[in-house]
Amino acid sequence: MKRRVAILGATGIVGQRFISLLHNHPWFEIELLVSSDKSSGKIYGETVKWVIEHHLPSSIAELTLHPLNPELIIKEDIDVVFTALPAEVAMQIEAELAKHGIVVVSNSSNMRMEPDIPLIVPEINAEHIDIINYQQKKRAWEGFIVKIPNCTTIILSLSLKPLIDEFGVERVVASSMQAVSGAGLTGVPSVVILDNLIPYIEGEEEKVESESLKILGELSPGGIQLNRDLKVTASCHRVPVLDGHTIAVFAELKEKPTIHDIIRALEEFRSNKIKNLGLPTAPAKPIVVRRELDRPQPRLDRLEGKGMSVVVGRLREDKALGGVKYVVLGHNTVRGAAGTGVLIAELLVAKNII
Ligand SMILES: NC(=O)c1ccc[n+]([C@@H]2O[C@H](COP(=O)([O-])OP(=O)(O)OC[C@H]3O[C@@H](n4cnc5c(N)ncnc54)[C@H](OP(=O)(O)O)[C@@H]3O)[C@@H](O)[C@H]2O)c1
Repeated sequence: MKRRVAILGATGIVGQRFISLLHNHPWFEIELLVSSDKSSGKIYGETVKWVIEHHLPSSIAELTLHPLNPELIIKEDIDVVFTALPAEVAMQIEAELAKHGIVVVSNSSNMRMEPDIPLIVPEINAEHIDIINYQQKKRAWEGFIVKIPNCTTIILSLSLKPLIDEFGVERVVASSMQAVSGAGLTGVPSVVILDNLIPYIEGEEEKVESESLKILGELSPGGIQLNRDLKVTASCHRVPVLDGHTIAVFAELKEKPTIHDIIRALEEFRSNKIKNLGLPTAPAKPIVVRRELDRPQPRLDRLEGKGMSVVVGRLREDKALGGVKYVVLGHNTVRGAAGTGVLIAELLVAKNII
């Protein structure tokens, strides 16, 4: 039996990705699309400014958009709500839904750092999902909230995971070049970004520096413990690329492996955490290594693994930090948002939680 799902923020860029990934999904059925008051009551296909490369499915185009009303969602007997709302809007509704028994898988940044709210990248920390029992008890909720991390943080953390496991990582310096789609459908005006770059993205550096420590932290009975062995510093920049965040990474390692050992660790990373669960959206290779000197590139590499793999290249020794430097690229609205959200929901199904 397919789980009934609702998408909040269905007209936005991440909402569109959710639709594209959930339409014809073997485990989920899209039942409800929700937008702001300005478009609710209208027909989805006549209202949405569809911007992603897949066709808008005709059965979805015919659906009527609903207003953001928790009672309606609860009444519709929805199993999972995927939220792709601005954080200030999500903040008002997600707790209400969880309180009334709804499972919320959320893209919005509110509550991400609360110790009882799991912040999941299934290949890295699938076991953190177990904190939901504590969350439900502590907050007296029948449902629960799981958060999808920040897009840049997901891409960076995936590339760091095998390095941490095999060689130990002390300090990371990350400098991002982030696509315009990361700012949403109306986020960056073309006159601002074309022929230009913006060396500031509000709140982004703080998210990368804090959320990576939580994703790579430890599950404990009273909440997720941050990884205290790791230090991450970030500088984030918006560039005139449509989709695909690229990050230049400099990592100080505890051990001194060869570049050959590092390539092997990255290429062989398969995540024993979800390996045998058969999750439909899991890529065969979470990390793909390119050996050409001029890769990865957003236009050429962002759809690797249907957008679910991150692509690492330019691996070389970092003599200043004592470790490795490389470039990692990931699709911000797939791996960095909706794709990881769908993978989380699949994990919940595979573990019989929903
Ligand atoms: N874009 C990315 O790469 C990315 C990656 C990771 C996380 N995120 C996060 O995901 C969320 C969505 O991002 P996005 O890029 O998809 O933004 P977006 O393109 O601006 O879409 C925002 C969506 O929220 C809806 N909305 C806005 N205000 C609302 C309200 N008061 N009530 C109900 N619905 C409302 C909009 O509906 P209308 O069309 O009716 O206004 C639209 O569907 C944000 O929290 C963002 O930080 C984005």
